Order: sequence, then C-alpha cells, then structure tokens
Amino acid sequence: MIVEQAPAKINLALHVRARRADGYHEIETLFAFLRDGDMVTIEPSVKDGFQLSGPYAPDLVEQADNLVTQAAERFRDIFDLYQPVLITLDKHLPVASGIGGGSADAAATLRGLARLNGIPADDRRLFDCAEALGSDVPACLAGKTAMGRGRGEQLDYTDGLAGTPVLLVNPSAAVSTAAVFRAWDGVDRGSIAEGALLDRALTGRNDLEAPARMIAPVIDNVLNALRAHRDPILVRMSGSGATCFALYSSEQDRHAAARAIRADKPAWWCLESALA
Ligand code: C5P
Repeated sequence: MIVEQAPAKINLALHVRARRADGYHEIETLFAFLRDGDMVTIEPSVKDGFQLSGPYAPDLVEQADNLVTQAAERFRDIFDLYQPVLITLDKHLPVASGIGGGSADAAATLRGLARLNGIPADDRRLFDCAEALGSDVPACLAGKTAMGRGRGEQLDYTDGLAGTPVLLVNPSAAVSTAAVFRAWDGVDRGSIAEGALLDRALTGRNDLEAPARMIAPVIDNVLNALRAHRDPILVRMSGSGATCFALYSSEQDRHAAARAIRADKPAWWCLESALA
C-alpha cells in the first residue's frame, strides 16, 4: 500500500502580469508548501475503485470526475499501465479555497502511482501529466518552495522560511478561480523582486486579492482578523482565495491568534501548520 501526503500550498506572492490568448494569465508566484494537507492512499486491487474519507469528503462526493481520478487516467494513458488500483482520498483541506487542495491531491496520485510502478519521481512524463491537469499541479508534484512563471508551471526552486509557523483561515466560502482571474483589472503592477524569500514575499502582493474581495467581501474580514492578533510577519490571501494566511515568528503567537479567531468565528476553518 502506498501512502502519499498531499500538502496544502500557499502563494507567498502572486503577481498577475498579463492576459493570454489561451484564456490563462501570465503570472509570477512564490509557491510554498505546508506540513499538513490531504492524504492519498493507493493499493493494488482486483478492480479500479475510488473512495473518500475525512471532514471535506462530502464536498467532493458529487464530483465523480475529480482531479484524483483524472490524474490516474492520465497516468495510465501516458505510461500505458493498466494495473487496477483502489485509491482513497482523505480530504482535510476545504475545496475551491486557494490552497491547491485538488492540485495537491492530483500530484500525490501521480507520485503514488509512479512509486507503485517503479517510475522515478523526476520522470518528465509525470510533469507532462501534471501540467495537463492544472496550472498548480506541477508545483504540487515537486512539493518544493519555488518561483512559478508562465501560468504557474515553469518552476525555479528556492530556499527559505522552512519551519515558519503558519495559520490558514477560510471563511467557509468557495471561490471560483476562473471567476477571480476574470475579475482582474488588467493592470500589470510589476514583477516579484529578487533577493531572500521573505523579502520577496514582503515586497510582493497577491494581485488576485482585490478581485476576490469583490466576489467574496468576507475576505476583508479574514485579512483583518489575521492582522488583529500577535503581530504576524505577513498576512495575505492565498491563490484566488478565499483562504488567507499569516506567518508568525513563534508557534505560541500562531496558536494564540488561532485561538482568538476560532473563539470569535467558530464557523471559519483554521489550520495551524508550518512551512515545509
Ligand atoms: O489551471 P487550472 O485548471 O487550475 O485553472 C483554473 C482556471 O483559472 C483556468 O480555467 C483559468 O480561467 C484560470 N487561470 C488563469 N491563469 C492562470 C491559472 C489559472 O486564468 N495562470
């Protein structure tokens, strides 16, 4: 049995530079990964199967054609392998929330199937599969802090901030990535600076924050709640939202902020974690 973690991703910065003719946007983004997320289990079986567990399983039940089953199909087509497997997705990350849950699950499925079949993790065809599944899937396949360009699939790996305490907060609002990109105002506000990762993040932005806040104004409340406690190093929305994150200098600060926000907003989802 193969067990693969599917860590949440956050975008420490996300600059939208241009609309493209193919419907995507040219972006620059700093991907970072958390120590927590979903989990994918793959076991050889007599026939193919897919099952869900975990707190967010009900949100995926209707989607027979989710990214995990799509990843398994693509893997088979590209590698021409037809061994039946039972795949279990243990879903802990909220769906459509800007932290790459579906992308991380797809990437974990590809990694797991590669291990099961003795395919090296750096096989170029895995990245081809990942790219076809979504813009964030290549970054999730590598699972390493990286600068992403293009639509997010061109990766330059970088170091920094490992172990930094992070708090994720989602106001239980699902936001469509396509809708947020469509609402971007088309203004190129410039590239992400060079330098140390924290400086690049601090001087950077998330250009999707403004359009996402128009679609889901509750994001303002989340950002303000994160800013209100324990002097975080950085507060920002991740991806296309609605999840926002804060970085802290200590676990105590992260925990105190999480406790205060949970007490004030019991319906919001909070995850205390750390950067991988
Ligand atoms: O690549 P993925 O399927 O995750 O993207 C979902 C949607 O987000 C795309 O259909 C597109 O509308 C938008 N998107 C974009 N530019 C990107 C990434 C995503 O416009 N760089």
